[in-house]
Amino acid sequence: MTDARVDEIRASDLRGLVADPRALDALVAHGDPVVYRVVTAPGGLADGVGLAVTTIERGSVGDELFMTRGHVHRDASAETYVCTEGVGGLLLSDGARAEWIELRPGDVASIPGGRAHRTVNVGRERFSFLAVFELGAGNDYETVAKRGMGARVLRSGDGYRVVDTGHAGRATG
Ligand SMILES: [Fe+2]
Repeated sequence: MTDARVDEIRASDLRGLVADPRALDALVAHGDPVVYRVVTAPGGLADGVGLAVTTIERGSVGDELFMTRGHVHRDASAETYVCTEGVGGLLLSDGARAEWIELRPGDVASIPGGRAHRTVNVGRERFSFLAVFELGAGNDYETVAKRGMGARVLRSGDGYRVVDTGHAGRATG
């Protein structure tokens, strides 16, 4: 049996991606907690098919709820998510417009090829989802770091709100 790969992404790995860098610095100074883990099945599961489970902890950086870094596939392949635990959502961006899809256990979301994607935990517990993707898709994180996702997901009372931010380098309004 081949071991799965486990990647732990901590608060410090979100530098340059969050709305409130000072809140992030405070979080890093207070133990730099794990924001999410990605467990990737060993290759060869099926021809060209990759499988991973991502689990985002409950928490926030300032008001911005814990999220993945977000990426776009270099080969523009599509991806499918199946929510397994908690309440969260998927932010999609085509570089001009952001879209938000809320996910609860059993929900399936399709990410069209070429869209940047980020997931966010908006619930009161951990949020987990299974991702099915093309092996070798090539995750590009720089595009999201540069232009953003077009929206941020913020804590709001007992719930959350999705705030449109526009994309860096583009006129908004
Ligand atoms: Fe992806």
